[in-house]
Amino acid sequence: MPAPGQDGGEEPRFLRACRGLPVDRVPVWFMRQAGRALPEYRAARGTGSILQAIADPALVAELTLQPVRRYGVDAAILFSDIVVPVAAVGFGVDVEPGRGPVVAEPFRSARDLDRLRPLEPEVDTPAVVEATRLAVDLLRPLGVPLIGFAGAPFTVASYLVEGGPSRTYARTKALMHGDPALWAALTDRLADLAVASLLSQVAAGAAAVQLFDSWAGALSPQQYERFARPASAKVLAAVAGAGVPRIHFGVGTGELLPQMAAAGADVVGVDWRVPLDEARRRVGSGRALQGNLDPALCLAPWPAVEEAALDVLARGGGTGHIFNLGHGVLPETDPDVLERLVALVHDTPAGTLSRPPAAGPGGGSGRDPEAGPSAWSAEGRR
Ligand code: CP3
Repeated sequence: MPAPGQDGGEEPRFLRACRGLPVDRVPVWFMRQAGRALPEYRAARGTGSILQAIADPALVAELTLQPVRRYGVDAAILFSDIVVPVAAVGFGVDVEPGRGPVVAEPFRSARDLDRLRPLEPEVDTPAVVEATRLAVDLLRPLGVPLIGFAGAPFTVASYLVEGGPSRTYARTKALMHGDPALWAALTDRLADLAVASLLSQVAAGAAAVQLFDSWAGALSPQQYERFARPASAKVLAAVAGAGVPRIHFGVGTGELLPQMAAAGADVVGVDWRVPLDEARRRVGSGRALQGNLDPALCLAPWPAVEEAALDVLARGGGTGHIFNLGHGVLPETDPDVLERLVALVHDTPAGTLSRPPAAGPGGGSGRDPEAGPSAWSAEGRR
């Protein structure tokens, strides 16, 4: 088997795909590829909050490498969490196993802005910086790039305002509409924290960054435009000069894809609700797509997984596409299915996918000679 992530000894195919350059195979990795689906994770992780585990650079590097070894994916993602920067500046956040981030004293008023001082990564999150360096060193001989990440201001703010996971985001929406100036100040501070964290990860060797706006799909296009896009665009613009591809991801964001693209990323993540050929139309040319197999399908019998994965590949069109799930790996997923998925993607030459199927149900095989050209720019397709 060729070294994962390598493209004939050139730049890793994951990075090429982020820039819309031709690849031999569509690169593949999985959001939440580290974690409870892996027995070796459960063995190494120990008990306690994930924030304690993140304080141990050797453990973090090991957990980051585990899915690379097991699945042969084309990229690693740093083992960390979106609340690490706010926890590091002392806002008072923990992560409850099985529940997610919880905040004992939620964000309520302008006074709470003082709890969000600027992040100095070398001082506040030295373990993250050290873990990034360690993981990059271990990944280098494998030719696998490391993705650094941060939470987007809206998604992180939702935890700080709600005090924990939410279904309705009622308090968050009440704040953004009720006190737009305070909301802007909050998300602006969170943008600065994300920028500092991302730049420190890139300085330590991360080859790409992903901005997770996981819960942005709770917003209408008007709400997104006014209350989420400005701070996310600030983050993406501030890391543009770092010279690494920027991925921008959210769940349930089909109606927001044009705006998420306009926020400035190089790659737009798509969940499973919008087929990639349709997503390509919404995002426009010149940006790559990442996604979008339904994570729940990984629990179905293999023939169903295979059929759906081949459809994702066909609709992705082979160029400017990074294969992934539409959201994170579910903990009950059989790791063998993910291993087979990687093999399937790697067994499919990208050149055979260059004509996406026509849109609509039952839209064809991806090799349909009647289908129109990919929406990817002509330059990227040479
Ligand atoms: O391979 C990887 O992607 C692992 C690294 C990673 C984690 N969290 C580790 C983690 C990443 C990229 C994240 C990002 C993250 N954290 C997001 C954005 C991605 C997404 O899924 O939308 C969000 C929304 C969070 C907040 C958060 N942290 C949630 C919702 C949870 C799940 C709670 C649970 O236990 O079900 C966490 C905890 C968490 N973060 C776990 C892991 C492996 C599981 C708990 C643990 O092992 O302690």
